[in-house]
Amino acid sequence: MRTLLVTGGAGFIGSNFIHHVLGEHNDIRVVNLDKLTYAGNLQNLKDIENDPRYLFIRGDITDRKLIGKLFQREEVDAIVNFAAESHVDRSMLDASPFVDANIKGTQVLLDATREHGVERFVQISTDEVYGSLDEDGLFTEESPICPNNPYSATKAAAELLCRSYHKAYGVPVIVTRSSNNYGPYQFPEKLIPLMIRNALNGKPLPVYGEGKQVRDWLYVEDNCRAIDLVLQKGGVGEVYNIGGNCEKQNIDVVNLLCDILRRLTTNHELRTAIEHIKDPRGSAHDFRYALDSSKIREALGWKPEVNFEEGLVRTIEWYLENQEWVENVITGEYQEYYEKVYGDD
Ligand code: NAD
Ligand code: DAU
Repeated sequence: MRTLLVTGGAGFIGSNFIHHVLGEHNDIRVVNLDKLTYAGNLQNLKDIENDPRYLFIRGDITDRKLIGKLFQREEVDAIVNFAAESHVDRSMLDASPFVDANIKGTQVLLDATREHGVERFVQISTDEVYGSLDEDGLFTEESPICPNNPYSATKAAAELLCRSYHKAYGVPVIVTRSSNNYGPYQFPEKLIPLMIRNALNGKPLPVYGEGKQVRDWLYVEDNCRAIDLVLQKGGVGEVYNIGGNCEKQNIDVVNLLCDILRRLTTNHELRTAIEHIKDPRGSAHDFRYALDSSKIREALGWKPEVNFEEGLVRTIEWYLENQEWVENVITGEYQEYYEKVYGDD
């Protein structure tokens, strides 16, 4: 039995990934280390909490002592580092938690792997490290790193630390850079779950500016399959883009979402609820992300399998069935955050 340390496994992608790995590999045991910030939720893993191949430890990746002990006690064979502060708008209000978790946390994990040795260290990074594209072109793994907001800057710094630990100490690092994920268990601060929640609660749908920015959407399960492949077969020292090949303007995403919601519910007034608000990201708002994923396609045989409309239907159905999950993650802290970015909830 191999032991896989997953950090940030109580968050959106991490919890989907743990379900994926335990379902696909009988010979892997998962240790999930998560600080349980506002974005971490053990409800996401309720169905596996008693699985003998799963162990949850509450802790912070910046806690050097805890990480050292954990590596020794759990005999970690490989690590996938999802743990991070992940929301761009929050990073623009206060970058400090991002520097701590995303940069310092990664360094502590790298130091532990340097000391204890692992087969693979997969660093979950983002297409945002490349910065922004105009109307044309795609980012390849060779495109320059050019982050434009504090979140993406800390993710880029973390990646560069990974690269340096590989070059300097031979830590077996692999980096994934994925595009925008969506699907079940995503915290309702991100575009798609925020719009679903607001629509279901009769609140305005706040589109930043004209909503012409473009994102490349990737269903979370497709990303989990890609990360799993990278973990098992990826080349040490390599970087892999993981894109959905699905570019959409924000306004089109919100309109499609309203159309699907209208089909699945009886609310017919949804489209009129769109509200174009002053862009809280200002000049730091990246216009377009789009990835060339031919490297992972050719090297590891991966491609996205869930098309956008199908993925959105699955996602909306999940949120319709799990409205209690959504309301349980809405705390006073969320209301405060919402007010800062959008005005009153
Ligand atoms: P998320 O915010 O839903 O989850 C992050 C998790 O990390 C939470 O469970 C939180 O409690 C935990 N965490 C935060 N700081 C921690 C710390 N110091 N120690 C231990 N745990 C800590 O994020 P997500 O959307 O699931 O993203 C996961 C990773 O994927 C992040 O590294 C993010 O940068 C990256 N990523 C996300 C997307 C996306 O579209 N969501 C796309 C590309 C890359
Ligand atoms: O590209 C990968 C990145 O995708 C990840 O690294 C980040 O962790 C993840 O949060 C996501 O970043 P974005 O900033 O692209 O995602 P978000 O869902 O916050 O916003 C998507 C687009 O929608 C963006 O152009 C801003 C816009 N938007 C967002 C929100 C929350 C709105 O118009 N209104 C909103 O209320």
